[in-house]
Amino acid sequence: SSETYMFQYKGYNFTKNTVTPEYIDSLEDFEIRDSDVFLVTYLKSGTVWTQQIIILIHEEEGCNATESQGSNAARSETFNATQSEGSNAAESEGSNAAESDTNMKRMPWLEYNLEGQDYNMRPSPRLFTSHLTYNLMPKMLKEKKAKVIYVARNPKDAMVSLFHFSKIWTYVETAKNIGDLMEKYLSGQVVAGSWFDHVRGWYTQREQLNFLFLTYEEMIKDLRGAVLKMCHFLGKRLQDSAIDRIVEKATFKNMKNDPKANYEFLPENIILKDNGKFLRKGTVGDWKNTLTVAQSEHFDEVYRQRMKDLPLKFVWD
Ligand code: PPS
Repeated sequence: SSETYMFQYKGYNFTKNTVTPEYIDSLEDFEIRDSDVFLVTYLKSGTVWTQQIIILIHEEEGCNATESQGSNAARSETFNATQSEGSNAAESEGSNAAESDTNMKRMPWLEYNLEGQDYNMRPSPRLFTSHLTYNLMPKMLKEKKAKVIYVARNPKDAMVSLFHFSKIWTYVETAKNIGDLMEKYLSGQVVAGSWFDHVRGWYTQREQLNFLFLTYEEMIKDLRGAVLKMCHFLGKRLQDSAIDRIVEKATFKNMKNDPKANYEFLPENIILKDNGKFLRKGTVGDWKNTLTVAQSEHFDEVYRQRMKDLPLKFVWD
C-alpha cells in the first residue's frame, strides 16, 4: 500500500527513507541568500528540463568574456565548492570539475540531500531544486531577494507522466491502473501531495516573492522564449549564440542523451527499475492517449471546482 512508500508530514507526502521529519523541520530556519535560485515544481512538471536550462544559463555566465579554454576555470570557481562534501572529491578536482558534475549535484534538491552536501558551504549563487509546498520552505525566502522559478504543467499530463514513472521509480507504489491513480491524485494521496494545493500555495505567494511563473506547455511551444524569460529573470544578458547553445542542449532529444541531465546516473536499483527512462515522451496532451472520456470529464470537474478562483490557464493539448 502507499504507506509502505510514503509518509505524511505537515500536509505533504514524502518518499520513505529519503528524508526525515527533523531535516524538514530544520529547513524552516535554513539560511537563504539573496543570490539563491530555487526551481520549484510539482512532481513530473518539467523539473529536470528546467534544471538543465538554469544550469546552462549559469554556465554561460562564465563564458561571457571568452568562449575558449579559459572559461572552464571561471565555471569551476562557481561550482567547485559544491564538490567538497562528495565522496568522489578527487574526481572532482581540476578545472573541469563542474563540467563533469551531474545536474543533481550542481542543483541539488533542497529536501532530498542525496549527495550529503553541506548546503551552507556552497558558493553563491547556489542553485536549488525543490518539490516542496510553499509552507515547508525556509521562512527567510520571503525576506530575501532569492529568486524562485516555478514551473507548472497541466495536471492531466503530469499525472500520466507519474503513472508511467511509478512503474520504474522504486520509491513509489506502482500504479495499478490510471483510474486508481487518478482517484489518489485528485485527493492528494500521492507523493508530493495534491497538485492543486501545490500550485495554489505557490501561485498565491507570487506577489510576495521574487517569482517567475512558467508552464511546461509554454516551454514546449516556445523553448527559446522560455529561456529568454529565465535569462531576464536571472539577470543574465547573453548573446544570441549563447541562447542558441542553451536551447540546443535543452531539447528533449539532446537531453535524453546527456548523461549529466538525463538522470540515468541514479543508481539503477535505487531509483529506476527495469532500465526505465526518466525522459519518456516529453509532449503536451499525452493524457488523451491514456484517460477515457469519462475519466477526463471527472478530472475536468474536480479541476473546475478546485481552480475556479485562480486566474491560471493551461494548454491541455
Ligand atoms: S520529477 O521526477 O518530478 O523530477 O520529473 P520532472 O522532471 O518534473 O518531469 C518529467 C517529465 O518532463 C519531461 N521532460 C521533458 N520534456 C520536454 N523536453 C525536455 N527536454 C524534457 N526533459 C524532461 C519528461 O519526459 C517527463 O514527462 P513525460 O510526459 O513522462 O515524458
